[in-house]
Order: sequence, then C-alpha cells, then structure tokens
Amino acid sequence: MSRPVAIIGGTGAMGRGLAARLALAGVEVVIGSRDAARGASVAAALTEELGADAAAITGTDNATAGAAPVVVLAVPFDGFEANLDSIAETATRSIIVSMVNPLAFDRRGAYPIMIEEGSIAEHIAGRFPEARVVSAFNTVAAPVLGALDRPVDEDILVAGDDPDAVDLVVDLADRIAGARGVAVGALRLSMVLESLTPVLIGVNKRYRTHAGVRFSRLEIS
Ligand SMILES: NC(=O)c1ccc[n+]([C@@H]2O[C@H](COP(=O)([O-])OP(=O)(O)OC[C@H]3O[C@@H](n4cnc5c(N)ncnc54)[C@H](OP(=O)(O)O)[C@@H]3O)[C@@H](O)[C@H]2O)c1
Repeated sequence: MSRPVAIIGGTGAMGRGLAARLALAGVEVVIGSRDAARGASVAAALTEELGADAAAITGTDNATAGAAPVVVLAVPFDGFEANLDSIAETATRSIIVSMVNPLAFDRRGAYPIMIEEGSIAEHIAGRFPEARVVSAFNTVAAPVLGALDRPVDEDILVAGDDPDAVDLVVDLADRIAGARGVAVGALRLSMVLESLTPVLIGVNKRYRTHAGVRFSRLEIS
C-alpha cells in the first residue's frame, strides 16, 4: 500500500497493536502522540521488535501525523475531543478512521454512552465536513491485536458513507493476519459498532476470554 497510515494515540494498547500488524503487512505507519518524543520512542521500539521485514514506522506529534492521507483515531473516549483539536488543521481532507467506543462502567458492568449525533464517528464527521470518516476496529480487543504470534481470526466491521474510503479500510483490515474486513453499511451504523464493546466486555468477563466478532455464512470472494 502506497499510502501511509497515521495512528493518533498510536502509543497506546490498540495503537501499538495496529501499528505492528499493519507494518508487518507492508503498510507504512506514523505513530502520533501528544508528545512527539513519546511517539518517536514507541516507533523506534516497534521497529526494533519487528525487524527488517516490516514497513517503516516513524513517530511524531498528533498534528503532524494528522496530515497523513489515512488517520486512525486510537485515543480514549475521555479526552478524545482534545485529540480531535490537535488534528483540526491537518486532517481536514483525510480519511479518518475511528475505533473510539463511548462507554462507561458502573457496578453492573460496561454500558454505552449515548452521543448526540448518534455516534462518535458521526460527531467526527460533523467536525471534519471535508474528511471521509469511517468506523473500524471497534470490536477487536487490544490483547488480540497485540499478540503478533497469533492470527487475529476475526471480522473487522467497517461502516462509512464514502465507498472508496470504506474499500480502503476493508483492504487494510484484510492485510492483517487472520482478519477479514467486512463493510457493514452507512456511517450511521457506527452507533451499533461502538455499542458492541460493552457486550464483548460482558462476554469476556463471564467467560474469561477476549471475544471478537465473526459472521457465520458470509463468504467474500
Ligand atoms: N483496548 C481495547 O481492547 C479496545 C478495543 C476496541 C476499541 N478500543 C477503542 O480504542 C481506543 C483506544 O483504546 P486504547 O485501549 O488503546 O487506549 P489507551 O491505551 O488508554 O490510550 C491510547 C493513547 O491515547 C493517547 N491519549 C490521548 N488523550 C488521552 C487521555 N486523555 N488519556 C489517556 N490517553 C490519552 C495516549 O497517547 P499519548 O499520551 O502518546 O498521546 C495513549 O497512549 C479507545 O477509544 C477504545 O474505546 C479499545
């Protein structure tokens, strides 16, 4: 893939796992951080860990990373608006991929937080009217993504309104070992993808695993 993928919050659990998986698949990655030095340090550590067969991983601050043609948001729901601010000048025309799940916990477990626009992804689309926003990677657990010695063995659900952007993200997902990208429909379905994580957390707690999603009877040629 010729287009580099930037990961805002690429220093975190999901960001590191995704960066490693993509680089191993030959995709150039830019790690974005609120602190450029931290981004560079994580990029250097991943480069050393993955060895010469992986594509280049570099690190920088979020604003600089936001200028990439494909920008993945891998930051927590708490404080995500400030992270959007950091790419407001640079990611205006990017494909922005959100994996952000708005959820909270109480004594009954995890539950989804309602978002005024319907979903975090639609909120981002409102803030970045010229960008093409896609939801993906919402249902993959960080430990699964990060276990590089094992295939992911899951479907990556992708929602978006721009067919080319959706196809590009499905293709990215397909490149990850053992993963399959599945286009599920329009961006407004992001509310469903974002709300699945509390369900998965409930399953994980009950059965002590890191469950993911795999559609039955779906064959994609
Ligand atoms: N963890 C999972 O299993 C999982 C699964 C599916 C989806 N998700 C979603 O993926 C996103 C990232 O999850 P994660 O577990 O990778 O997050 P994380 O490790 O807690 O944080 C990721 C990165 O976000 C940056 N960041 C920006 N603002 C922050 C703030 N206010 N507090 C803490 N960190 C902040 C940090 O990087 P810098 O300090 O370098 O800026 C941090 O390394 C979340 O929205 C989550 O809902 C998570």
